[in-house]
Amino acid sequence: MHLFPSPNDYPDLKRLQDRRSFITGAAVATSAAMFGLAGCRHMGSAAPVSVRSGALASLQTLAAAGRQRGLLVGSAVDVKALRASPEYAQLIREQCAIVVGENAMKFGPMRPAPDTYFFDDADYLVDFAGHAGIQVRGHNFVWHRQLPYWFDGYATKANAERLLVEHIERVGGRYRGRIQSWDVCNEVIHLPDGKANGLRDAPWYRLLGPGYIDLAYRTARRVDPHAMLCYNDYDIESEAPAHAAKRTAVLAMVRGMKQRGVPIDAMGIQGHISAGLSNKYGAGLTVFLNEVKAIDLKLFISEMDVNDRALPPANDARDREVATRYKQFLDVGLANEGVFALLTWGLTDRYTWLNGEDSREDHLPERCLPFDAELKPTASFFAELDAIMQAPMRKVVSNKDRA
Ligand code: XIL
Repeated sequence: MHLFPSPNDYPDLKRLQDRRSFITGAAVATSAAMFGLAGCRHMGSAAPVSVRSGALASLQTLAAAGRQRGLLVGSAVDVKALRASPEYAQLIREQCAIVVGENAMKFGPMRPAPDTYFFDDADYLVDFAGHAGIQVRGHNFVWHRQLPYWFDGYATKANAERLLVEHIERVGGRYRGRIQSWDVCNEVIHLPDGKANGLRDAPWYRLLGPGYIDLAYRTARRVDPHAMLCYNDYDIESEAPAHAAKRTAVLAMVRGMKQRGVPIDAMGIQGHISAGLSNKYGAGLTVFLNEVKAIDLKLFISEMDVNDRALPPANDARDREVATRYKQFLDVGLANEGVFALLTWGLTDRYTWLNGEDSREDHLPERCLPFDAELKPTASFFAELDAIMQAPMRKVVSNKDRA
């Protein structure tokens, strides 16, 4: 008995798993192919059939399974890897209906100097997605991290409002109409800071006071009226008391915004969860999702991964435990039909941020995502796929719904 399906439950998937070696070996993805048809492909030697890229899509992929349930499924994308690795680009094309730049649209990476912008990576991602028919999330305008090195010495109470508004105007304006949703503010609640309403003692807060949040949303709406505007946060998933307290503060904040007429359309639950700890996902998350839906906000699971740093090193046991976490969390998260999109924070262990930040003490690479470092589907892939296929059917949401 297994909690989640194995490759043998899905003959097509067994072939998908086997065929990675074929993709790796095939010199197919020239730069011309990157934005067009992938051309003819041969399956792995176990199943030598010739298929076009369209036919590949008929194998069960995360995106295809999501489509069947009315769910937009996808991943964060490492744009450097997207440029460099045709096989990674192909995996993104196959598995994702929606992508988000892992770093490409953040304030720091986009602002090498106060008066200059770096758009190359974000442009590349938006163009790639456009050619592939994939939707794009924008992440993010406002965050306390990844601000540029010059920020502290440059931003003052006198110029901060202009700095914030101009940033949203330039970046949001450049991609206007091409972004499905913007994380306007990311992680602005942090109860340990002891500020009123649980607000984080963040640089923008110190410069502008609590009003910076409303300002950012109103500016974003004016600049790109078609994009869904989201609030995105972490540590709001589990039954732990600290998560419950943060959920209450997050809910109070977005309720207040709605009451004040601040334009906000959606909530992103990041879903950076951990295996091997006593975290449970259940009633607290269920009630929260219902409450968010009740105030008419759409829901994303926006950055899911499962950190395995607390697990012993053996690969098989790690994979089983991580996959079990995927399934447990997603069964609760996807039960709510308001959740219309699910993104993992990366698609392959090859590029996960968890190897850099919060990495394992034994320095073994993390096994936290649906594809392993060789781009083969992991047990977590099957767990995610199964959770998607078990999810109740929902109404497809498009960003036109918000225009
Ligand atoms: C992370 C990236 O994955 C890293 O590459 C970067 O060094 C730091 O940020 N929550 C978020 C994401 O909202 O933006 C973070 O991304 C992961 C946690």
